[in-house]
Amino acid sequence: MPEFILLSSQEEIRRQVQKTGQKISADYKDKDLVMVGILKGAFIFMADLSRQINIDHDIDFIGASSYEGTISKGQLSFTKKPDLDLAGRDVLLVEDIVDTGHTLLKIIEFIHLLNPGSIKLCSLIDKHERREVNIKVDYSCFSLDKGFIIGYGLDYNEKYRNLPAIYDLKL
Ligand code: IMP
Ligand code: MG
Repeated sequence: MPEFILLSSQEEIRRQVQKTGQKISADYKDKDLVMVGILKGAFIFMADLSRQINIDHDIDFIGASSYEGTISKGQLSFTKKPDLDLAGRDVLLVEDIVDTGHTLLKIIEFIHLLNPGSIKLCSLIDKHERREVNIKVDYSCFSLDKGFIIGYGLDYNEKYRNLPAIYDLKL
């Protein structure tokens, strides 16, 4: 039987997302913010974060898929590209979790080709232990060393995205 160890309650998530939203609102006050959520894992975080940002912003999504089970396939395929013209705009990429960093690096390389004015990263969870590439996570709600995390949008084989809190999954 898999075991679910509670890492962050709904209330803790709400608090952290609110804090992050306030920071982003202040930092982007005079900018032209477009939040680009990375599907599918960021969909719940993105919806809550957007509602904690009190300045005008646009919403778009990019679809990228790299994992099967708990193992990275090491290859990234784009399942959806942004609809909006991002040229000259201030793009904030919104991710569920940064692990090795390879997924974000490839997405950043792709977004660069669209000539945005700036690119920053916001991840619900910054997971350090297996980081292999040097990327800066500008905003994160939670930071941890290791584990396989599910709930609040994060999946294991497409399951558990609907859980309202965040858990460490022990298989
Ligand atoms: P990276 O390329 O190794 O940084 O992996 C990033 C992607 O893998 C994330 O967008 C997630 O979709 C997935 N991923 C990495 N770690 C976890 C985890 O602990 N739980 C669920 N998905 C994860
Ligand atoms: Mg995923």
